[in-house]
Amino acid sequence: MWPAVSAWAAPLNTCAECHEMLEGQTRGPAALFQVDVHSKRGLTCADCHGGDPAAQDPTLSMALEKGFVGRPARQDIPGFCARCHADPAFMRRFNPNLPTDQYAKYLTSQHGKANAAGDEDVAVCTSCHGVHGIRSAKDPLSPVYATNIPGTCAVCHTDADLMKRHGLPVNQHWDYAHSVHGQALLVAGDRGAPHCASCHGSHEASKPGAIAVGNVCAQCHSLSRDLFAASPHKMVHEALGLPECEVCHGNHAIQKTSDEMLGTGPESFCARCHEPGSKGFETAQAMRAAVEDLKARIQGAEESIQRAHHFGMDMEDAEYTLHEASSRLTQTRAYVHSFSIEKVKSVAGEGLAHADEARKAGEKAVEEVYFRRKGLWVTVALLGIFVLALIAKIRSMDKKGPTHSG
Ligand code: HEC
Ligand code: HEC
Ligand code: HEC
Ligand code: HEC
Ligand code: HEC
Ligand code: HEC
Ligand code: HEC
Ligand code: HEC
Ligand code: HEC
Repeated sequence: MWPAVSAWAAPLNTCAECHEMLEGQTRGPAALFQVDVHSKRGLTCADCHGGDPAAQDPTLSMALEKGFVGRPARQDIPGFCARCHADPAFMRRFNPNLPTDQYAKYLTSQHGKANAAGDEDVAVCTSCHGVHGIRSAKDPLSPVYATNIPGTCAVCHTDADLMKRHGLPVNQHWDYAHSVHGQALLVAGDRGAPHCASCHGSHEASKPGAIAVGNVCAQCHSLSRDLFAASPHKMVHEALGLPECEVCHGNHAIQKTSDEMLGTGPESFCARCHEPGSKGFETAQAMRAAVEDLKARIQGAEESIQRAHHFGMDMEDAEYTLHEASSRLTQTRAYVHSFSIEKVKSVAGEGLAHADEARKAGEKAVEEVYFRRKGLWVTVALLGIFVLALIAKIRSMDKKGPTHSG
């Protein structure tokens, strides 16, 4: 159906020569094609479109007998690209490290399935990669470079008319862009933060599905996920078909967390489901109390160390201990996902011990200052007594003075 792959070695390119002289859309890709990754690897028009790139006569060069396919129909584009990209033997000649599974994955995606059913709205290869100006995914100017992906998906997924035809909401990009993840990637440029394809996959893009959501998040939040997986909540979620992390954090609009989300206050997640008096409710309260207790003790330790600093004391060791206490506070917050008060208290307990040690070190340093000051006064007093005694001695010598000299 498609032209033979071996055509890529053709020495002439009458296609480009003639098309550069044309007007409008048929002029084709002349300028764009120079930056195209295919052009840079020495591939020509005919490698994709077929035809005879040595013939000057357009009826010959673009002859169907020469395998010319012209402009592929939208539905055929995945197969058009896959001719090379799903051919490992061919691709290896250029880049043995480039995966050749994009087409296979695409067929499993919601886009691929709908495309196969003749849907013209869904993404095909060129919707995400462009055409004639295709760049490596590692090129920051590529539409599939990490920071550009949300915008690339949003072209369709914020199009209300288009999405209405498919019964899908259009809030994902807006919610994501304002989430802790979107802010980290799009504003702070942190490429460790997820984009649409980190959670949905790119070629295989589909809904993560209720149970698999935790796996998606676990790529980056493995501690939270491991604790959750061993918790009593895990079974509850499975039994009720609740998505693991989403139930509390949401999916696109995930926000920075706070201690208010824990416990039973108005912003708490826990009180949404647990009635006063239930074990879940009490556990939530106890967990929040453990966090608040540790916070208060860390603050006490901080103040104690600050006071010592005012007196110019070196508090490096205590600061290290304080740092340990703070890192236990961070861990305690993650241990919320164990849904076990024993586990939370055990981590928080280590933090309390560190905080108390740091506070005591601060207090001891201040005491030392006072002690030294007391010591100084004693020295000054002794010195004063000594000086007075000396003066008295000199005076008494002065009184005796004249009798000797006479
Ligand atoms: C001498 C000029 C000339 C040469 C050589 C030539 N073309 Fe064309 N091509 C045209 C013109 C004019 C059109 C628009 C009219 C038409 O569709 O026939 C066109 C149309 C096309 C289209 C769009 C077809 C569509 O279905 O919309 C493609 C793709 C194309 N050419 C690719 C090629 C390739 C690949 C080669 C080389 C193997 C080539 N052309 C050689 C002049 C040329
Ligand atoms: C990597 C494969 C690839 C290469 C290489 C390639 N094209 Fe295309 N071309 C396509 C695809 C795919 C389309 C269909 C785009 C669409 O329908 O959105 C297309 C469409 C076209 C069209 C129809 C008008 C348009 O812009 O949609 C013309 C004309 C054309 N190509 C000419 C060329 C010429 C001339 C070259 C070489 C300078 C070339 N192409 C190189 C894949 C390629
Ligand atoms: C819904 C958008 C989308 C569609 C459709 C799509 N891609 Fe991609 N593609 C991406 C993204 C995003 C990347 C960046 C790497 C990643 O996250 O997988 C990528 C990367 C690639 C790469 C670089 C190597 C790799 O696998 O990482 C190739 C080659 C590629 N795509 C080819 C294709 C082909 C061929 C098709 C059609 C069968 C296609 N893509 C369809 C979004 C898409
Ligand atoms: C004639 C064979 C052929 C066809 C057809 C083809 N490609 Fe390629 N493609 C290649 C080769 C070869 C490379 C270069 C691989 C390398 O050296 O890294 C490449 C590279 C790419 C890359 C860059 C991969 C990366 O991130 O490094 C993308 C993206 C890509 N192609 C997408 C497409 C899309 C989309 C289509 C269909 C419109 C297509 N290709 C059609 C052969 C082809
Ligand atoms: C060319 C337009 C277009 C682009 C670009 C596009 N999509 Fe889609 N997407 C659609 C359409 C249309 C559907 C609905 C398909 C259907 O009816 O089943 C869809 C469906 C989906 C679904 C499945 C939703 C569900 O409830 O089944 C996910 C997930 C998805 N897209 C993610 C992405 C991601 C991630 C990207 C970017 C990497 C992207 N899409 C780019 C048009 C697009
Ligand atoms: C942190 C992970 C994550 C990121 C990032 C993410 N999604 Fe989602 N997305 C999800 C989850 C989880 C669901 C719900 C799936 C389920 O319930 O099975 C979902 C659902 C969807 C759906 C189905 C309709 C709906 O809203 O429920 C579409 C379409 C979609 N996402 C597109 C996108 C697009 C476009 C982006 C980028 C702008 C994106 N997603 C970013 C996790 C994510
Ligand atoms: C590709 C990695 C990645 C994936 C996948 C991911 N995250 Fe994140 N997440 C991050 C990074 C990085 C941050 C920190 C952002 C910042 O504040 O700079 C973060 C922050 C968070 C925060 C805020 C943490 C805080 O300290 O307040 C929550 C909650 C969160 N993610 C939940 C999730 C959930 C739930 C999922 C799955 C639906 C998920 N994440 C998927 C990387 C990821
Ligand atoms: C989406 C609803 C929901 C949310 C939100 C929720 N839980 Fe639960 N939780 C349940 C259900 C349902 C059970 C099982 C029935 C029960 O024990 O109440 C459960 C069980 C528990 C258990 C085990 C109780 C036992 O009997 O052993 C603990 C502990 C718990 N949850 C703590 C929490 C904490 C802490 C939070 C807030 C961080 C929270 N839950 C948020 C629904 C929820
Ligand atoms: C029942 C509600 C609930 C569920 C389910 C839940 N979390 Fe949390 N999560 C919380 C609460 C409450 C906090 C805030 C704790 C605090 O700051 O005191 C939090 C904090 C976080 C944080 C920031 C603190 C840290 O651990 O670094 C991340 C990241 C996070 N959750 C990820 C996840 C992931 C991933 C999942 C799924 C495996 C998940 N959460 C499931 C309630 C939940």
